[in-house]
Amino acid sequence: MIKTKPLIVKLGGSVITDKRRKFSVRRAALRRLAGELAAAKEPLVIVHGGGSFGHPMASKYGIAGGYGDKRQLIGLSLTHRAMEKLNAHVVEALQRAGLPAMAVQPSACTTVIDGRIKSMELTPARKLLELGIVPVLYGDAVPDLSRGMGILSGDQLVVHLARELGASRIIVCVDVDGVYTANPKVRKSAKLIRTITPTSWPGIAEPISAAGGPDVTGGMANKVRELLALAEHAVEAEIINAAKPNILRRAVLGERGLGTMITMG
Ligand code: IPE
Repeated sequence: MIKTKPLIVKLGGSVITDKRRKFSVRRAALRRLAGELAAAKEPLVIVHGGGSFGHPMASKYGIAGGYGDKRQLIGLSLTHRAMEKLNAHVVEALQRAGLPAMAVQPSACTTVIDGRIKSMELTPARKLLELGIVPVLYGDAVPDLSRGMGILSGDQLVVHLARELGASRIIVCVDVDGVYTANPKVRKSAKLIRTITPTSWPGIAEPISAAGGPDVTGGMANKVRELLALAEHAVEAEIINAAKPNILRRAVLGERGLGTMITMG
């Protein structure tokens, strides 16, 4: 049985899908990333985002705003199915790279209240992990106890999993070099922030923004906010650019300072 603390890696939707084109997987990037993950020496837990699969469906049917209309039921179902399809691509890529990956469906084991995790049955995922399996979870359309339905982001999921599974570290993969003072895809003057701590955050929170395309879960600022909650429990996180070859490989092998570190300071 594996007793080492797991490393949690989030594959952002912008890295594994083309956010400008609905239901489009970045196949070559996914294959490369699976190979880089296979270099890990620690047990892995993978979480992936929605990208051009989950977000367009969720925003079309207003899932994140909760239940208001019967027509949203098919939207909830379609959003989940879109995520299952993307998940199948991720699991398959990991398997091809030699990793024993298995999907764990968040909407079947999680409830949220006002969009925040209320309960999550993690015994099966924990047991799979102990066995040597790589559990693969994803942002999902989930039952919300106060709003009826909602979206659970992969970012919230990584933080919850890190706490519950006692993670050693979190690596969040995006398609820019880390957190910038402004959106680097739009502003040339945007500067990369190397470290964010609970103390430095209030000063930089306002101007940072996400990459393009519909994002129902809040983009980069939200990512940092979620990860800071964890830094307070002494679990460090790093946001890296996994669109560049070998950055993820170096990060999983223990290198620090490749992107933006989120720490206690
Ligand atoms: C969103 O997950 C999931 C759905 C829209 C169903 P994330 O918010 O973690 O996705 P990305 O990484 O931003 O695409």
